[in-house]
Amino acid sequence: EKGGYEHFMLKEINEQPRSIADCMRGRLDAQAGRLIVGGLRDYINKFQNADRIIIIACGTSWHAGLVAEYLFEEFARIPVEVEYASEFRYRNPVINEGDFVIAISQSGETADTLAAIELAKSKGATIFGVCNVVGSSIARATHAGSYTHAGPEIGVASTKAFTAQISVLTMMALMLGYQRGTLAESKYMQLLNELEAIPAKVEKALESNAQIEYIASQYKDARNFLYLGRGYNFPVALEGALKLKEISYIHAEGYPAAEMKHGPIALIDEEMPVVFIATKDSSYEKIVSNIQEVKARKGKIIAVVTEGDTSVKSMADHVIEIPATHEALVPLLSVIPLQLLSYHIAVMRGCNVDQPRNLAKSVTVE
Ligand code: F6R
Repeated sequence: EKGGYEHFMLKEINEQPRSIADCMRGRLDAQAGRLIVGGLRDYINKFQNADRIIIIACGTSWHAGLVAEYLFEEFARIPVEVEYASEFRYRNPVINEGDFVIAISQSGETADTLAAIELAKSKGATIFGVCNVVGSSIARATHAGSYTHAGPEIGVASTKAFTAQISVLTMMALMLGYQRGTLAESKYMQLLNELEAIPAKVEKALESNAQIEYIASQYKDARNFLYLGRGYNFPVALEGALKLKEISYIHAEGYPAAEMKHGPIALIDEEMPVVFIATKDSSYEKIVSNIQEVKARKGKIIAVVTEGDTSVKSMADHVIEIPATHEALVPLLSVIPLQLLSYHIAVMRGCNVDQPRNLAKSVTVE
């Protein structure tokens, strides 16, 4: 059942080239210039004319929501708010009929997300679900939705569900942007091609496994980790830190790299591994200076970089390469080494990777 892998988590990490392809199958055909997220059909007008998009989710799904915020705002120019379901539902939020709410949940059973949906529904908003489990409570409670089709996720730490969520949300953002005229046709076509190339690039990213295992052996006894990224890689930094803490029980924090100087930089000394997600994108120069700041304080630098990078390589203690892609699609690749890093560290520490202490696969209590 684990397909020859020692743990479900490792199997699920390795399944991602296929699960992402499954998620895009029947929806994306770059050659034909076609992208259809079927679940949106009946609500396309509401979506196109939304005053605001509100995303509600918890945990890893919330991180996928943060990536979506960047995507929807960049391509469709609609303001987005990303909310922890638990905070949203208890604070008497402002919700209007013109709001398009997207609820993201792997299990489709998360109690807080479900309650937040009911609240938004009662205020007249349109609710769209992005769920993995077919027929789940959240899938049933929403007006419409699209499944992620990642297949069953057994490991408690979410991996392939996360990349499938981002895939669906990316397709939604591109479709919306194109239809609203905020995303030019040539750029849209280019993005469809890039998106179609992602499964093969994920496969390539997975090839760094042995190298990541070596890096894990060097840092498995660290007491703390810091994960830093900017732009599209900021949510990836949060996700990398969450993956590490939940399965290895090492304290880790994710931060937008520029926030470092507002506090976390005080933590840095020669004992502190700092994982930078420093791919070649519009914030590359900025993150390079953040890396210099950490280096000057003798922090240990592990960097996820774009293939062929030289500047970061000259400063970092370790670099892990991922293939180049459009900046907006980078999270689908940059999260892969972070999943593997947390996996190997947890295994080396003798942790129960698939069923970490105190955690359940679906959180059906508030
Ligand atoms: C992290 C993890 C949790 C879930 C969260 C939401 O690896 O598994 O943080 O992401 O409990 O669960 P769903 O997506 O099922 O609503």
